[in-house]
Amino acid sequence: MQKADLIVGLQWGDEGKGKIVDHLAQKYDYVCRFAGGHNAGHTIVTEGKKYALHLVPSGVLNKDAINIVGNGVVLSPKDFIKELEQFDDIEGRIYISDKAHLLLPYHAQIDQAKERLKGDKAIGTTGKGIGPAYGDKITRVGHRVGELLNPQKLCEDILSYFKINKPIFDAMGVEVPDGDELLKELEFYSQKLSPFITDTTLMVWDALDSGKRVLLEGAQGTMLDIDHGTYPYVTSSTTISAGACSGLGIAPHTIGKVVGIAKAYCTRVGNGPFPSEDFGKDGEYLREKGHEFGTTTGRPRRCGWFDAVAMKHAVRLNGVSKIALMKLDVLDGLDEVKVCVGYEIEGKVIDYVPYSLEGAKPVYKSFKGWQKSEGVREFDKLPKEAQDYIMELEKLCGAKIGIISTSPDREDTIIRS
Ligand code: GDP
Ligand code: IMO
Ligand code: MG
Repeated sequence: MQKADLIVGLQWGDEGKGKIVDHLAQKYDYVCRFAGGHNAGHTIVTEGKKYALHLVPSGVLNKDAINIVGNGVVLSPKDFIKELEQFDDIEGRIYISDKAHLLLPYHAQIDQAKERLKGDKAIGTTGKGIGPAYGDKITRVGHRVGELLNPQKLCEDILSYFKINKPIFDAMGVEVPDGDELLKELEFYSQKLSPFITDTTLMVWDALDSGKRVLLEGAQGTMLDIDHGTYPYVTSSTTISAGACSGLGIAPHTIGKVVGIAKAYCTRVGNGPFPSEDFGKDGEYLREKGHEFGTTTGRPRRCGWFDAVAMKHAVRLNGVSKIALMKLDVLDGLDEVKVCVGYEIEGKVIDYVPYSLEGAKPVYKSFKGWQKSEGVREFDKLPKEAQDYIMELEKLCGAKIGIISTSPDREDTIIRS
C-alpha cells in the first residue's frame, strides 16, 4: 500500500507550511488537511501572485490535485464559501468530510466573550471560535458538516441548543439567532457546500489503495498542540503528526515521510511563554524583515531566536524524517545569530521541554552572521556562515535539514540530497 507523506509545523505556527505544501503539492495527487480551522493563515506566493488560505488546503494551486478537508477540521461554512471565491474551477477538486464539525457564528461570539472575561489571563486566540467549536465536539453537543444536508432539522437542533444554554449565553452577551434568519443562512450554506460534502475517509483509503500520492497538511504548530504545547496557551486541536490519523481516519502505519517545517528563527502570536523571544532591536529586525504580522488577524508576531530545545522536542513528537528550514534570508545582515540550547529554570539548566515553560530563561549559543542568502537555490552557494549555522542546527535538533527556503517564492528553495 502507498504511504501518505505529512507536513507539520514544528514551532508556534506560521513556519511557512503553505509555501512547502504548495511546492510539494506539484508531486501529489491528493492534499488533505487534518486539523484546525480558519485560525490558520497560509500565505503562498507563486509567479508574483499572493494567495491567503485559511481552510482550503494549500494544494489548491496544483490544478491536478484533489484537496480534502478532513473530519479533524472545524469548518466555518461562511468563511469557507468566501475563500472558495478566489478560485473559479474548484468543483471536483475539493471535498469536505461529512464528519468535520461546523463552526458557526455563535462560536466566534463565545470565543471573544470568554477572552474578554479572562482579562490579563486571555490566551490571545484568533477570536474565530476555534475553542468553542472543538469544545462542542468533545462535549458532544456540536453539529457536523453532514447535517447541512438537512438544514431544517439542523436549524431546529441549534435553536434547541440555544434554549438549553440561554442563561449562560445571556450572561456572556451571545445573541440568540433569529429562527427564520438562521434557517435562511443554513439553506444557503447547504446549497453552496452540498457538492463538496462526502465521506472523505473512504476517499483517502481508496486513494492509498490505488497507489495515489497523498500529502497530509497540518495547520498551526507543535508548540500549540492541545496536549504537548504550552498549555493553556495553545489551540484546541491535535496539531502534531498523530492528529493526521484521527483527523482523516487513517492508520498510523500508512504514514510515510514526515516533513517538519521550521523557521530559521522563531515567532509566536498570542500570549504564553516563549523563552527565546527577543525584546530588543534584533526582534524588531526579524519582525520587519520577515513581515511578521499575522495572515489571519494582522497582529504583530512576537519574534526571537531559533529554539533548538523545543525543536528537538518537536522532532521526537512528530517522528520528523527531515526538516524544511524556512526564511533563512530573514537572518541576512545580522552580525550575530543566536540559538537557544537550554532553559534556565529556578537556577537549573535543562535541555528538554518541561511541564511548564513559564519563567524559563534561554541559554544561548552564538553564531557569526552572514550578508546574503536571499534567493540562493544551491546549498554550496550559501555563505559559509549560513552553511555552518544549518549544520549545527541539524546536530542540535537530531534531524536532517533537507529543504531550505530563501524567499517567499516557490522557486527559491534548496533541496539537499
Ligand atoms: P504558515 O501558516 O506556516 O503557512 O505560514 P504563514 O503563511 O502564516 O507565514 C509564512 C510567511 O513567510 C508567508 O508570508 C510566506 O510568504 C513567507 N515565506 C515563506 N518562506 C519564506 C522564505 O524563505 N523567506 C521569506 N522571506 N519569506 C518566506
Ligand atoms: P498557522 O496554520 C500561529 C494561535 C493563536 C493563539 C492560540 C489559540 O497559520 O500556522 P485559537 O484561535 O486557535 O484558539 O488561538 O493559537 N494560533 C496560531 N498561531 N499560526 C496559526 O496557524 C495559529 N492558529 C492558532 O494566535 O495564540
Ligand atoms: Mg500562518
